[in-house]
Amino acid sequence: MNEKDIIPQNYVKNLFDLTGRVAVITGAGSGLGAAISVGFSQLGVTTILADVDKLAAEKTYRSIKRQNGKAFISHLDVTSREECFRLADEVVKDYGKVDILVNSAGSAFRCPAEDFPEDKLDYILNLNLKGTYFCCQAFGKKMLQRKKGSIINMASIGSFNAYPLASAYLASKGGVLQITRSFALEWRTRGVRVNGIGPTLMESPLTAKAAKSTSETADFIKARMLRPRLGLPEELIGTAVFLASDASQLVTGEIVMCDDGYLKA
Ligand SMILES: NC(=O)c1ccc[n+]([C@@H]2O[C@H](COP(=O)([O-])OP(=O)(O)OC[C@H]3O[C@@H](n4cnc5c(N)ncnc54)[C@H](O)[C@@H]3O)[C@@H](O)[C@H]2O)c1
Repeated sequence: MNEKDIIPQNYVKNLFDLTGRVAVITGAGSGLGAAISVGFSQLGVTTILADVDKLAAEKTYRSIKRQNGKAFISHLDVTSREECFRLADEVVKDYGKVDILVNSAGSAFRCPAEDFPEDKLDYILNLNLKGTYFCCQAFGKKMLQRKKGSIINMASIGSFNAYPLASAYLASKGGVLQITRSFALEWRTRGVRVNGIGPTLMESPLTAKAAKSTSETADFIKARMLRPRLGLPEELIGTAVFLASDASQLVTGEIVMCDDGYLKA
């Protein structure tokens, strides 16, 4: 009697296979977005490097090209809804589809809450919160048309916990958590999954100054870390691959914490 395989051959290999997928990565010119872009390209993903900073995007592009990966640069200011929708149209026209969106464009500004300037508040909320929202809308619509896609939003330990001098950033990342949950809920039966990654304090240009020097914000976070070590951008790639791939097909509306246990301490 021929017994049926419990799991078909190559099932797991196929689960993680991203060959031929098309990914748009915002903030791909620096830090976490750059690392995830190069990581995806190593798995045969066509990466669209979407950044407001052309020179930064070119650096990521050269790195991918040196490794014979597929990459294209697209200027994008995520705070413009119009630009987000225009890029989504262009990507589908030029590459046929969009399988993966990583929302990594973001920034921070430190200031006591009572004195937080309105222009900086607008800047952080427009970039981190509305930028993520617009991209989810624009690229999510394309994914809904094909009933297939995975969106990965860059959340933070600040989506759940507070730390000093970062009230606008914390408000924006709390919002990213709820964008992730609400879009995931509305699209849960329509083939598009929306998740997030919640990094600890990472080594990246964004935090280089605050994390290495003594600062109230960094010291507060470091005092609560289980071990005093910043995360490295490349340490997020495995989680991004998992969330982008069919391996995470039952996972949606979730923030996968890559925080070295910070929230559990
Ligand atoms: N670095 C950390 O410790 C850390 C921790 C948790 C979460 N995050 C989040 O991860 C994301 C990436 O952080 P990072 O450390 O890589 O930052 P980074 O400053 O190194 O990179 C951010 C990138 O976003 C781009 N960008 C800025 N404004 C833009 C706009 N309007 N449109 C398009 N692109 C724009 C920048 O040009 C830059 O290339 C952010 O959302 C950040 O909040 C970072």
